[in-house]
Amino acid sequence: MKCKTCGTKAVVNMPQHKLAMCKEHYLEWIPEQTARFIRKYWMFGPDEKILVAVSGGKDSLSLWDILIRLGYQVDGIYIGLGIDEGIGYSDTSLRLCREFAEKNQQKLIVVDVKGERGQSIPELASNGSRGRMKPCSVCGVVKRHEMNRIAFEHGYAVLATGHNLDDEAATLFGNTLSWSKDLLLRQKPVLPEQNGLARKVKPLCRFYEKEMTAYAMLRGIEYIYEECPFSVGSTSIYYKELLNQLENERPGAKLAFYVKFLSARASGLFKEDDYQPIEEVEGQIGVCSTCGQPTTNSGMCAFCKIVTFDKKDE
Ligand code: AMP
Ligand code: FES
Ligand code: ZN
Ligand code: ZN
Repeated sequence: MKCKTCGTKAVVNMPQHKLAMCKEHYLEWIPEQTARFIRKYWMFGPDEKILVAVSGGKDSLSLWDILIRLGYQVDGIYIGLGIDEGIGYSDTSLRLCREFAEKNQQKLIVVDVKGERGQSIPELASNGSRGRMKPCSVCGVVKRHEMNRIAFEHGYAVLATGHNLDDEAATLFGNTLSWSKDLLLRQKPVLPEQNGLARKVKPLCRFYEKEMTAYAMLRGIEYIYEECPFSVGSTSIYYKELLNQLENERPGAKLAFYVKFLSARASGLFKEDDYQPIEEVEGQIGVCSTCGQPTTNSGMCAFCKIVTFDKKDE
């Protein structure tokens, strides 16, 4: 297999793009493609202040690396979830994020959930009197809330996450199986700023997971190999496996599933009357009585319900 650009021995083969590349050209190609997606989906401009959410995994650390190389002003945020599960999951991910930030002389904001709210994610999830919740559900609510809060408090216009194509295709698959219209309407590479919350962007949404693994390894980025221990057996992992089976038989199927959904929606897949731009839903969005973030709940938002209940119980 030869590099398409220079003809030397290729180290990455991408049958989904009918493309193979050597290390040097692959490490140029990924940032170039990212820059193309940033422009194509109008994610952000050169002068906007970006906050990238880093988990210590290959996707988000690679995203940080790429945005630095593309010349953006980009700080990191790491949310300490207090997950140990015998492998020191959160401690290792924090260490890797810190090491990346130091090596690249970048600012990393760290939010420690237990330090700030008194309980870690597993503790918040197993709170007896509220009833057990799945750690990943609690985690999702807490991460979203804390990212929004920090972006708002520190004046970041844009919040970037490392979701890759495998993540987006699995989410799309789940939303399609249940025909969750509202979720399908909102599954976008860019969610505009609303109610004072930063614009949300996913610059890696068109890269296969294995493309990001190759990037992180070839670039020498140290990342945590383990997935979140609570995600084992999750529906999203099952959907990813199903989509990988499809991809193995038909290279490119996963990308086509996602990209064609984006263009079908843009060209009116949903009837005009069905479409409720987020701004029109704003009327139904109130403000949390405790933290002030937008919420569709009346009274407290989902995050404050989780953390406030626990405090009362102490
Ligand atoms: P996940 O929800 O674990 O699939 O992660 C999706 C994206 O959310 C990652 O690529 C990161 O951008 C972000 N993220 C996940 N966990 C954390 C964390 N502990 N702190 C900050 N950002 C995170
Ligand atoms: Fe955070 Fe599973 S508990 S992703
Ligand atoms: Zn080459
Ligand atoms: Zn709240």
